[in-house]
Amino acid sequence: MIKVLTVFGTRPEAIKLAPVVRALSSHPAIDHETCVTGQHRQMLDQMLSLFEIEPEHDLDLMRPGQTLPQITASVLTGVTEVLDRVKPDWIIVQGDTTTAFASAMAAFYKKVRIAHVEAGLRTGNMYSPWPEEANRKLVGQLATLHFPPTESSRANLLAEGTPDASILVTGNTVIDALQWVSARLDENQDVLVGDRFAYLSPGRRLILVTAHRRENFDGGLARMFHALRRVAERGDVDIVYPVHLNPNVRTAAQEVLGGLPNIHLIEPLEYPAFVYLMKRAHLIVTDSGGIQEEAPGLGKPVLVTRDTTERPEAIAAGTARLVGTATEPLLQAMVELLDNPASYAAMANAANPYGDGRASQRILERLIGEPV
Ligand code: UD1
Ligand code: UDP
Repeated sequence: MIKVLTVFGTRPEAIKLAPVVRALSSHPAIDHETCVTGQHRQMLDQMLSLFEIEPEHDLDLMRPGQTLPQITASVLTGVTEVLDRVKPDWIIVQGDTTTAFASAMAAFYKKVRIAHVEAGLRTGNMYSPWPEEANRKLVGQLATLHFPPTESSRANLLAEGTPDASILVTGNTVIDALQWVSARLDENQDVLVGDRFAYLSPGRRLILVTAHRRENFDGGLARMFHALRRVAERGDVDIVYPVHLNPNVRTAAQEVLGGLPNIHLIEPLEYPAFVYLMKRAHLIVTDSGGIQEEAPGLGKPVLVTRDTTERPEAIAAGTARLVGTATEPLLQAMVELLDNPASYAAMANAANPYGDGRASQRILERLIGEPV
């Protein structure tokens, strides 16, 4: 038996590691435990209950308005204590959050081998996304096994000198999660969604929005919200924006977007309801990493409100466009997609650059094959 501890703390890590946890915890050759740091609380708990994961360890670290040093220090010490108790052969971390970085650091200090899911994505700019670009690179330096989602992320790892034999391209586990949830939605939409979006007008096209990046707090969020407000004033769209619980985001959203009848600022949605809205949307405006990976498969145009992306595959596939956060370019890009059917059709082609839904199976098989 190999002993594996999977550690995560935020909403996107929970979605992307849920299929891995489900695969590992039901395999007879693996003794698996889950540790959540609680870097997020409500947004994490929504996903734990959906995927029926009951963590053996919950550090419950989230504090309102927490700072990067606070989360880093508390994850480092908290995960170290869990490692002392569990004594795993492997720790699994995902992506680029502070939970992933500080957990990998804790494992390194304990000489526990690290498997990194969603390895190798790079923008080449340490300040965009910030601090995620650095977090992901630092985990890569410490990891024994690297699971990049695509060939281009594998190439990034090779260019940095990562040994080829330690890399396996798996596809992104978010596609495993998306397929799992889509199947449940097909069977059970009445229960999972019901009539909760009855306020949306069938005559108006839906723009689905998310935003939360730290590098956009300093004016970027407000500039992009002004573009949303102006497009809403046309009157022929509904905007739904499940607002991230980060207080920096909520204040800016309320200030610029509050008070218009066709802008719906709502609480973060459970994953099935959010997937339903992605499917229903005419277009998506987001700075989220995960949504850039999910939307191409759904054939939805995505305007990415960032200056850089570590996910070039969606841009290459033609379904995503990097528009930055300045008001005018974002407004023009939305208007173009609303008013020009040819532009819309050019972006609305379904493509699946991020995987086939079998990423967690590949991760499981590779871990089992590793020397004890
Ligand atoms: C974090 C990750 C980011 C990831 C994002 C996904 C880091 C540095 N940032 O950013 O990479 O893309 O999650 O959403 O790892 N809050 C709540 N309840 C929650 C979640 C957050 O109240 O369930 C509030 C708290 O006040 C908290 C604040 O949001 O202090 C910020 O949370 P934090 O995890 O530090 O940063 P995010 O912006 O969520
Ligand atoms: N998501 C969700 N409910 C919401 C908003 C997003 O379930 O209200 C999902 C979305 O489909 C994607 C993930 O959360 O899988 C993205 O999380 P987030 O934007 O917080 O983080 P990022 O991907 O940018 O790291």
